[in-house]
Amino acid sequence: MENGLSKWLFQENEQVLAASKISIRGVLYSLMDCLNKEDERETSLWGMETPRHSPASEPLLLQNKPSFMPSLLHDTTAIVQALAFFQQEGCQQAIHYILTVLARPNANILIPRPGFHGYESLAAFTGLEARHFDLLPKKSWEVDLQSVETLADENTVAIVIINPGNACGNVYTYHHLKQVAETARKLGIMVISDEVYAHLTFGPNPFVPMGAFASIVPVVTLGSISKRWLVPGWRLGWLVINDQNDILRKTGVVEYIKSFSTLMSEPATFIQGAIPELIEKTKGEFLTKTVELLKHTADICYERVKEIPCFICPYKPEGSMFVMVKLNLSLLEGIRDDMEFCVKLAKEESVIVLPGMAVGLKDWLRITFAIEPSALEDGLARIKAFCIRHKCNYKPAMSSSVD
Ligand SMILES: Cc1ncc(COP(=O)(O)O)c(C=O)c1O
Repeated sequence: MENGLSKWLFQENEQVLAASKISIRGVLYSLMDCLNKEDERETSLWGMETPRHSPASEPLLLQNKPSFMPSLLHDTTAIVQALAFFQQEGCQQAIHYILTVLARPNANILIPRPGFHGYESLAAFTGLEARHFDLLPKKSWEVDLQSVETLADENTVAIVIINPGNACGNVYTYHHLKQVAETARKLGIMVISDEVYAHLTFGPNPFVPMGAFASIVPVVTLGSISKRWLVPGWRLGWLVINDQNDILRKTGVVEYIKSFSTLMSEPATFIQGAIPELIEKTKGEFLTKTVELLKHTADICYERVKEIPCFICPYKPEGSMFVMVKLNLSLLEGIRDDMEFCVKLAKEESVIVLPGMAVGLKDWLRITFAIEPSALEDGLARIKAFCIRHKCNYKPAMSSSVD
């Protein structure tokens, strides 16, 4: 094998292929593969019950490299072996696609902790065992690569990374991403790179697409228009194969992704029509403003959080829309854990914050700063008042650590 491994550990899901063979779209797509590319006449497509794509554009699902692909990937080196699949239900559905394709009996997948609950629930739904590796708060929430190696075994199929990070607001360096790629290659697994917050960065590290390492390991990049273009309700996502050595095609994974796409509905026609315009023509000014606003609210959030006595924030967010804060419960009277903190906060201050247990880290909180600045200031002032009100009378040895 070209990577020097005896084998790659991911395989295809036979059930998906079997199901797609009996779907109308599956049959039609295999007929479309037979079309003579040199025949310049317009294809007369009679097989569909109803037209499903925008009359103005070729259906996205059938385009291997749509014209806007480079702007989508933001890295021309990564598109050598890139193939895009579009989903009608945002990045969430892209996660569903890839996990379904990878699911086979006994297979497991490595998921970050803290992370995004979508992986947890869809792994359970598709029958994949979720194994959690830690992100290290003292190392800018980098992946604990040692724990990745310890968790993986012969049934591990993929590692998920989320960059920029939900839940920690971290942005990985080129060097760290390369380490992740090398570790995955060593283990014979693919990298699933969730880049739904791509380019929403405002710290020293620029956003680096994981596809930049497609010569080291196959990378499946997931994204959507929800965050950067601020249209979460439009529900359009994508799954892009970055694989310079063509491993995912050779191992059948690409075929299975295609097969699975025949079982799902296509994106709404008007969204399909709008997408090239949206991706290629959105004014730079709009995108810059969003990042500036996020930087501003991240600064407010970090400064206010530092003033709250029972909060420890090990890392100033540099991307995405979130920050993780550890609760110093020894400073609080009558609050035993993160859930109780959030319940009482909701009751007493009408502020809803996500308890860390929901993202895999007990006794932490995930705070979002994608909020209007005045509402953020107000909410954090209420949280501060709540913490002061519940502060212990005695002063135990105060820990400012995240251990
Ligand atoms: C890390 C991550 N991945 C995927 C998604 C789902 O994105 P979409 O709204 O495009 O389905 C989210 C949404 O919050 C997310 O935070």
